Amino acid sequence: MVFSKVEPSYFSKDGCRIIWSGIDEDDVDTVVLNKDELDQLVEILKNNNVGKVELEDNFSEILINSDVVQFRLKDRDQLEANTREFREKILEYAKIPHDPLYVQVFPKEFYPSVWIQKDDDAKPSEKKSQKPTSLLNAILSSKTKGAEVSESDIFRIISTRRSTRKFSKTKVEDWKIEKILAAADTAPSAGNFQGLEVFYVKSKKAKEALVEAANRQPFVNAPLVLVFCMNPSRVKMNFSPEMLAKFSLQDATLAASYSQLVATALGLSSIWIGMIDEDKVKQVLGTDLRPSSILCIGYPDVRKSPKSRRKLKDLIHVLED
Ligand SMILES: Cc1cc2nc3c(=O)[nH]c(=O)nc-3n(C[C@H](O)[C@H](O)[C@H](O)COP(=O)(O)O)c2cc1C
Repeated sequence: MVFSKVEPSYFSKDGCRIIWSGIDEDDVDTVVLNKDELDQLVEILKNNNVGKVELEDNFSEILINSDVVQFRLKDRDQLEANTREFREKILEYAKIPHDPLYVQVFPKEFYPSVWIQKDDDAKPSEKKSQKPTSLLNAILSSKTKGAEVSESDIFRIISTRRSTRKFSKTKVEDWKIEKILAAADTAPSAGNFQGLEVFYVKSKKAKEALVEAANRQPFVNAPLVLVFCMNPSRVKMNFSPEMLAKFSLQDATLAASYSQLVATALGLSSIWIGMIDEDKVKQVLGTDLRPSSILCIGYPDVRKSPKSRRKLKDLIHVLED
């Protein structure tokens, strides 16, 4: 990775994004600085000093030495830049005010690679609607390469799932993505109204902007990024708006959870992101719907063993006569 440029932040006119590039054009790494961090950095560089800037996460830091600037980052590989070149670009950037970069990507329709029987092709008795497992059935009966490779013991899947905050650069195969999306579609929902929408974020810029929208958690820029949003307007039940909002939150959460487990069954790993700035996420997705979570999926760099939990007797509360 070679340090390449400094660009404005996605949501704020203060701070910046520092960008490194690899050999192929997809290979990009970014560190986002807020105003304070950038100001401290400029102060050190302007005076030709050596020093350290601690980043907001209380772990990552930038070490400015006379020949090299080192970025020691939480949950990521270390990044470096030549001090002279870095100083030049940072000071140049800091000279003039910058407008934030706005990223908004408008969603398009999703077409799976497999053929799903349409209503028009169905027998009159089947015409009314698509079965909840239509996409899954289509995938399972297709000749998709490797489609049979998945863990089918649900207990093994739930007992081995672990959150991953460091993904390898390996792409997630399309047939796996389709199964993960199909899982979201099969999840139960209040009144079967599916009060949710799933945003499948392929755009590189949108993924990067989601990192900033998720409190700069870098692993949000994962090989597969799904944002689950609540859509209470789909829940056609005669209940209060509060109840419908609650249903749609539960619908979106359950669907994400189904997708997360299926990802595990397919040998992938994931991280559930709840720490998000809803308005920023909405802006990136080009929607007014409230996001409930971002599910980031990919192949883990390292497979970890399951985390401990509290004692079952503290978790389970038995009521009996
Ligand atoms: C509602 C919810 C919100 C979460 N938000 C975040 C988050 O914003 N960032 C993060 O790194 N992990 C987040 N996590 C992941 C948890 O930290 C993780 O699931 C937990 O530590 C248990 O570890 P395990 O998933 O490896 O078993 C979230 C999980 C849930 C269920």
